[in-house]
Amino acid sequence: MITLRHGEGRPTWAFVIVSVPRGNLRGVVDDVKSGRMTDSEDGPDLTEDGPEDSPAERAAAGDRPLVVVENVNKHFGELHVLRDINLTVDPGEVVVVIGPSGGGKSTLCRSINRLEPIDSGTILVDGKELPEEGKELARLRADVGMVFQAFNLFAHKTILENVTLGPVKVRKQGKQESEKHAMELLDRVGIGDQAHKYPAQLSGGQQQRAAIARSLAMKPKVMLFDEPTSALDPEMVNEVLDVMTGLAREGMTMIVVTHEMGFARRAAQKVVFMSDGQIVEENTPEEFFTNARTERAKDFLSKILTH
Ligand SMILES: Nc1ncnc2c1ncn2[C@@H]1O[C@H](COP(=O)(O)OP(=O)(O)OP(=O)(O)O)[C@@H](O)[C@H]1O
Ligand SMILES: [Mg+2]
Repeated sequence: MITLRHGEGRPTWAFVIVSVPRGNLRGVVDDVKSGRMTDSEDGPDLTEDGPEDSPAERAAAGDRPLVVVENVNKHFGELHVLRDINLTVDPGEVVVVIGPSGGGKSTLCRSINRLEPIDSGTILVDGKELPEEGKELARLRADVGMVFQAFNLFAHKTILENVTLGPVKVRKQGKQESEKHAMELLDRVGIGDQAHKYPAQLSGGQQQRAAIARSLAMKPKVMLFDEPTSALDPEMVNEVLDVMTGLAREGMTMIVVTHEMGFARRAAQKVVFMSDGQIVEENTPEEFFTNARTERAKDFLSKILTH
């Protein structure tokens, strides 16, 4: 905890921000706003700004989480697949989304990336709503990297070509610069030596790491992972999780749909439990896995823990 003392001038926001553990920033801002951290009489009075702004308003004002999902609803025909979803993700925060099959986890990810339109509510990424279509959508969508269960690499392009395609086409980067960056990324995920092979010549774990490198090449602000390890043979799961843990440690903002509890415990600040289109519970990984509050979460955990 940070104490702001008398006689040291006005505390600066920079001081507050650099001193905060990753993922706790919003708590500190709330502490400051509620007066719990302003013991200086001549310090800034942050307690008189009236009622709390909504996350969408705060995001638009620049004091913001990186991803805001507010009152989002979506139907597939009769099926109410997202029911009034509210979720915020701070810069550098890692959120694990967990829950039974059909609960809406993939639909939520796809909605954040605008691969699925929503019926009502707001989704902001870095303060901006993604437009419905057009070039602007392609550019803003590139701010959100997405890694799927099926790696979705282009089969007729080499790994290197897969990674450079987006930067060249969407980010309008030069070929040489893109290739240099792509090689750095492929080295970083441990498959630099596979750059000139085609996807079918790689193992599943290597293909998924190539897919991660391809997303990173777009310099996304946030990465969404939808069950990135569930199609992999068990011995390849860890090599992908290790890359993801490394990204989390480096401060990448991440939303990860996974049932890998070790990863959640190691890398996430928050676990969101989704069932029947609703966020039923939101907690720290430790609390969620040892002390879930709701019956639905307890029931789900008892099933995955016995596997
Ligand atoms: N394109 C679609 N058209 C109609 N229904 C859909 C479509 N996509 C998903 N659904 C339905 O919406 C519900 C939520 O699906 P979603 O894929 O988001 O669940 P999930 O939590 O990701 O499940 P899983 O753990 O099996 O991946 C399911 O009942 C699914 O059948
Ligand atoms: Mg899914």
